[in-house]
Amino acid sequence: MKAEILTLLRQRQDYISGQELCEKFGVSRTAVWKAVNQLKKEGYVIEAVQNKGYRLADVPEILSKDELESRIRTAWAGSPVYFYDEVDSTNIQAKRLAEEQAPHGSLVVADKQTAGRGRRGREWESPAGSNVYFTILLRPQFHPGQASMLTLVMALSVAKGIKSLTGAEAGIKWPNDIVLNGRKIVGILTEMSAEPDFIHHVVIGVGINVAKQGFPEELEQKAAALETELGRKVSRAALIQKIMEYFEEDYTVFVKAGDMSLLIGEYNCRLVNLDREVCVLDPAGEFNGIARGIDKNGELLVEVLDGSIRQVYAGEVSVRGIYGYV
Ligand code: BTN
Repeated sequence: MKAEILTLLRQRQDYISGQELCEKFGVSRTAVWKAVNQLKKEGYVIEAVQNKGYRLADVPEILSKDELESRIRTAWAGSPVYFYDEVDSTNIQAKRLAEEQAPHGSLVVADKQTAGRGRRGREWESPAGSNVYFTILLRPQFHPGQASMLTLVMALSVAKGIKSLTGAEAGIKWPNDIVLNGRKIVGILTEMSAEPDFIHHVVIGVGINVAKQGFPEELEQKAAALETELGRKVSRAALIQKIMEYFEEDYTVFVKAGDMSLLIGEYNCRLVNLDREVCVLDPAGEFNGIARGIDKNGELLVEVLDGSIRQVYAGEVSVRGIYGYV
């Protein structure tokens, strides 16, 4: 009931009488009063005025199950919410929950990860209280061959979420890093459990560096974080909420087309590699060329010296800017 009261207070932005809350939830005034007190203890500033009722006066930066549930109003993306103060990895936890029949759209969020994982077996530093670590669980009904494109869909939704919440023009470094001012601020790790022709589930894990504190010193120098780049505070819960809203839309568009064809324009206009020279680290041989955007399969089109176009598939290679990361 706490999350529902919070939802109502948030929507109303004005006083709601204790009576109305009692009636809505079919509970006593004392039960409402207790729930409101609990929320106050968690840090919400709730005014209680006689004859008027309760009003949400301020929401400090809180990341919790209630906070997320009261914000996320999508049809399926981000529901239910599984929140952990500490977990090994939200991707690993999402896979566990998938085995326990958690539904399509389930969202796993943690304040801290003790075994956060990046791509290619790397670690993902995940200190408490400062960043976003979440994983969404999907049960797609399409062919496993299409699943690698979901990473690109999520990259698009994250870039749009950041832009909408903060105004920052976050770019995408193909296939799925998010970059601000030339530095990586978001990483995405997609994992799938499938048979050759059937997907059991896909988990898409997103790590966003929001504040810098808590990183080991060597990373402190290298890492970029949203708040540091913007010079102001960013609400982690609001960021997750926005991303869920965009992801629900973008995923629906993706499924309708069965590929990236309806999202190419939006993706390419955020692509930081576009029309820039890239070095393609292909295990079969490195080559340089000019990135010309993605095609409908999410492959990067790279124009090589003789003017021909090579399609680069995300799973096999990585791409570097020739003068650095981008
Ligand atoms: C990368 O290497 O760029 C991908 C990093 C992905 C990190 C996120 S944080 C939430 C989720 N849980 C994990 O263990 N990893 C992903």
